[in-house]
Amino acid sequence: MKKILIINGPNINMLGIREPAVYGRQTYEDLCEICEKACAERNCVCECFQSNHEGAIVDRIQAAYSDGTQGIVINPAAYTHTSVAILDALKAVGLPAVEVHISDVRSREDFRQVSYARLACFKTIMGQGLHGYELAIEALCSLKPE
Ligand code: DQA
Repeated sequence: MKKILIINGPNINMLGIREPAVYGRQTYEDLCEICEKACAERNCVCECFQSNHEGAIVDRIQAAYSDGTQGIVINPAAYTHTSVAILDALKAVGLPAVEVHISDVRSREDFRQVSYARLACFKTIMGQGLHGYELAIEALCSLKPE
């Protein structure tokens, strides 16, 4: 069974409370349920990880190298636009990764137009709300094993 790791960065635990006009009313728990269901439907194992700390995200990506993870869905949140460390960690482990953003970052502020993590991802999904995570899981689960 393929194991998919879902990584969410800072403030994604505040979904449902934070800026509902931008991120919607669903909670982080709803997000995890959606991911677990999407993985189960595709016969994949799901693990959800969220942290507000850059180093903890780097540590989790590194651990994915040897814990059986076969694909990563990552929404680095604000670290998308700043973190070379997360980019380097994704490159280091070399696992297939998909970048997800709940909002359509393209239509937002200039400082959100840069994504470091994107450089290590084979696909980016944005502006589709939590459904974007399902699309990312679909993309990873349908990859042929190496
Ligand atoms: C986000 C977009 C980022 O710019 C922002 O900092 C977030 C969430 C999104 O999912 O739309 O925290 O990654």
